[in-house]
Amino acid sequence: MCGIVGYIGNKNSVPILIDGLKRLEYRGYDSAGVGILTKDKAEVYKREGKVSELEKYISELKLNSKIGIGHTRWATHGIPNEVNAHPHFNPEKTLLVIHNGIIENYSVLKKSLRDEGYQFVSDTDTEVLVNMIDVFLKKGQNLCNAVRYALSKVEGTYGIAAIYIDEPDKIVVARKGSPLVIGVGDNENLIASDVNALIAHTKRVVYLEDNEVAEIYKDKFIVKTLEDENLKKDILEIEGSIEEITKGGFPHFMFKEIMEQPESIKNSLRGRVILKDGLAKLGGLIGYEDRIAESRRIIICACGTSWHAGLVAEYMIEQYADIPVEVEYASEFRYRNPILSKDDTVIFISQSGETADTLAALKEAKRKGALCVGVVNVVGSTIARESHTGVYIHAGPEIGVASTKAFTAQLIVLSLITLLIARKKNLSVVDGREIAQAILELPNQVQEILNQNELIENVAEKFVSANNFLYLGRGYQFPVALEGALKLKEISYIHAEGYPAAEMKHGPIALIDENMPVVFIAPTDTVYEKVVSNIEEVKARGGRIIAVANNDNAKIDELVEYTIKVPSTIPMLMPVLTVIPLQLMAYHIAVKKGLNVDQPRNLAKSVTVE
Ligand code: G6P
Repeated sequence: MCGIVGYIGNKNSVPILIDGLKRLEYRGYDSAGVGILTKDKAEVYKREGKVSELEKYISELKLNSKIGIGHTRWATHGIPNEVNAHPHFNPEKTLLVIHNGIIENYSVLKKSLRDEGYQFVSDTDTEVLVNMIDVFLKKGQNLCNAVRYALSKVEGTYGIAAIYIDEPDKIVVARKGSPLVIGVGDNENLIASDVNALIAHTKRVVYLEDNEVAEIYKDKFIVKTLEDENLKKDILEIEGSIEEITKGGFPHFMFKEIMEQPESIKNSLRGRVILKDGLAKLGGLIGYEDRIAESRRIIICACGTSWHAGLVAEYMIEQYADIPVEVEYASEFRYRNPILSKDDTVIFISQSGETADTLAALKEAKRKGALCVGVVNVVGSTIARESHTGVYIHAGPEIGVASTKAFTAQLIVLSLITLLIARKKNLSVVDGREIAQAILELPNQVQEILNQNELIENVAEKFVSANNFLYLGRGYQFPVALEGALKLKEISYIHAEGYPAAEMKHGPIALIDENMPVVFIAPTDTVYEKVVSNIEEVKARGGRIIAVANNDNAKIDELVEYTIKVPSTIPMLMPVLTVIPLQLMAYHIAVKKGLNVDQPRNLAKSVTVE
């Protein structure tokens, strides 16, 4: 999940690479480097830490080269330090390679390279790759062939870019399992691991598929298979403006993304709700609607926050569409032997559309004949392209590592899918209209909650020094409890657990004392009274309680220390509202602790390794 960028053209590549790396930093940020070709040398500049460190370092060097590659790293093999940062050299320092992914057979390859006399300076699997390419260059192959031959020996995943002093007119790139996109410019071309790094320069892109290699010149590009067959690739136009992927005056991307949820939700549902008929219209599913509605079973596969959205969808679909639903961690699903048939539909939820485990689960489900539906944010991403059909959530670029607006947009799309299939089954037009109406009201209701930002910040302030947190909810609110806990631990490093409220008595209750803040997500629904009993149990043991409750629930204020009020909607949509205060609380606690909320330690936005 490192970030890759490259440039070839008539401009100085170095500032372009640095700018690209900054836009990719959310993918990995423990070290960064650039490599360039000058008249007679390949040069590498690397720094441990963030891209700004690298920028500071090279700004004094006045580097200039019309071809270069850059990398921001999320360590897999070898600790994050300067030596392990990319690019990596061959022994003669004529070839430079950057790599995203994992070379699984790297120890076998490393041993055989050692036997041939290669020495290694880093602990990375990438250095194995660069030396493998070097072996073929020494046998007289050109760069592109050497890359192809080396990759044919490699097991694992890669998105790579290589430049070579003897062929200074090209960057060679290849992909298997890690995204790579070519940005087609005017007398200049770029490459990157995602479009965020390209958008300032061009909106015309070519996505590489697995097992494809490309030679990028300043005025042309040639794409072929690993087996050397030439391919004709379409140039696509990407959507989204540069403003959309910048902070736009907010102190952090995460805050911006939380605050823009009324807008992102509107974008997710725009043109998709037909109120008068109580229907949802999802262009991507046309032709597949009956097959989904007639599924014997729906399985939802995802990771992280997307998995939590899947758990909410389980409640939605079972309540309204009468189809049994199972929700699976993609990482578990891919290595089980899932019993699937063509009567099953598997929904893959992914913000990035590149998560390695989700993608592998998708391939497995396809192999077994199930209908695969993608619910994805990043347009043109691998999961979006590999699914049989799907729905984009249209949340816009999400840069903060902790997912916020993608979660609510996923819930919107999942509620629309539910409405669509439920109306094909037993749901009446009147009930369909009620859901449609409630969906349309969400943007304003979310705005009402965001208007209480200051109040939520004040609550957050009281808990900055907490070491633990418990989040409890039932029914539709159980996944929200998990998501609230995940948000807090991701960015504030406070240990937090989410639990179904009724399960508290089977263990977590032992933890309750005056040092244990407990967040109850307690809208007034069918299980509300039972949740109140749980609140009493925590109170009796001295726990400090924060409750998220409905606006019209005045009684709860007497029961708990702090209440955050949200508007009311139908139970299936309440998670869209109740999660907002939890996002804001996590954000404010992390900011008050002085932490980097957009790039929390050890995490990455797009997890393209296992
Ligand atoms: C990483 C991110 C999470 C995200 C998860 C799944 O862990 O930090 O925010 O929920 O991956 O990512 P996806 O892109 O598939 O939704």
